[in-house]
Amino acid sequence: MLLGILTNFSSFFFIVADGCTDWSVDIKKYQVLVGEPVRIKCALFYGYIRANYSLAQSAGLSLMWYKSSGPGDFEEPIAFDGTRMSKEEDSIWFRPTLVQDSGLYACVIRNSTYCMKVSISLTVGENDTGLCYNSKMKYFEKAELSKSKEISCRDIEDFLTPYKEPEILWYKECRTKTWRPSIIFKRNILLIREVREDDIGNYTCELKYGGFVVRRTTELTVTGKYTNLHIRFYCLLEAYSIHSANQI
Ligand SMILES: *[C@@H]1O[C@H](CO)[C@@H](O)[C@H](O)[C@H]1NC(C)=O
Ligand SMILES: *[C@@H]1O[C@H](CO)[C@@H](O)[C@H](O)[C@H]1NC(C)=O
Ligand SMILES: *[C@@H]1O[C@H](CO)[C@@H](O)[C@H](O)[C@H]1NC(C)=O
Ligand SMILES: *[C@@H]1O[C@H](CO)[C@@H](O)[C@H](O)[C@H]1NC(C)=O
Repeated sequence: MLLGILTNFSSFFFIVADGCTDWSVDIKKYQVLVGEPVRIKCALFYGYIRANYSLAQSAGLSLMWYKSSGPGDFEEPIAFDGTRMSKEEDSIWFRPTLVQDSGLYACVIRNSTYCMKVSISLTVGENDTGLCYNSKMKYFEKAELSKSKEISCRDIEDFLTPYKEPEILWYKECRTKTWRPSIIFKRNILLIREVREDDIGNYTCELKYGGFVVRRTTELTVTGKYTNLHIRFYCLLEAYSIHSANQI
């Protein structure tokens, strides 16, 4: 049953070495700032095999984690200290991350006759100088002028407590701000009711988690009618001035 590979992955390339099916590096990449906590999930249970961790465990399969600094590099078993870095069910938790945690994490499930492996990429970055984020680790969103736009605090599910509203602080250009009344906050979302031109910029949300903070930054660009109107307006002006110049 565990051998049933989901068909949507059939186009992916895998190799079998030492009797282990290696799915190479998973498409989901983890990118966090140094000092933040993160949970790296073994991707095998999220798309490669038809089983979850408890099912695999009851079938007698064991889960092992190895680390390498890049593809093809030597993989070493991970020594979990159980506090900063711990193995919890199908995941590795970092509380918190260090720069040297960057690399590939291979998760392997096996018994004596069966083996599957996938690697998961983690990048731990530092803030850009003078900023509260790393500009290579941003999310991007587009908004249309005068329309409404939601910006969500992404990938924070692992840090939420069930039935409890998350306490999220929002910053723009890394600064606290007095938001206008038409910008509202609900759960993990910042909602701009009517987007204005000056809403363009970098929005950072901040969530507290057990003595640490998790930050996500989204760069919002604003497009739309305004620019078109502007262009049309200037074309009109130009046409008008040519017209009046001709009349003189
Ligand atoms: C190993 O796991 C596979 C997949 O669940 C199973 O089909 C096989 O019988 C297991 N082998 C042993 C020796 O337990
Ligand atoms: C694991 O999968 C089994 C069978 O599909 C299901 O009954 C069980 O609730 C799942 N466990 C978890 C922790 O999701
Ligand atoms: C990143 O910036 C934030 C806000 O300025 C600061 O609190 C945090 O300590 C910085 N993190 C690092 C790793 O420099
Ligand atoms: C958003 O951040 C980028 C750098 O990451 C910066 O170049 C840009 O000017 C910022 N946007 C605004 C509106 O300040």
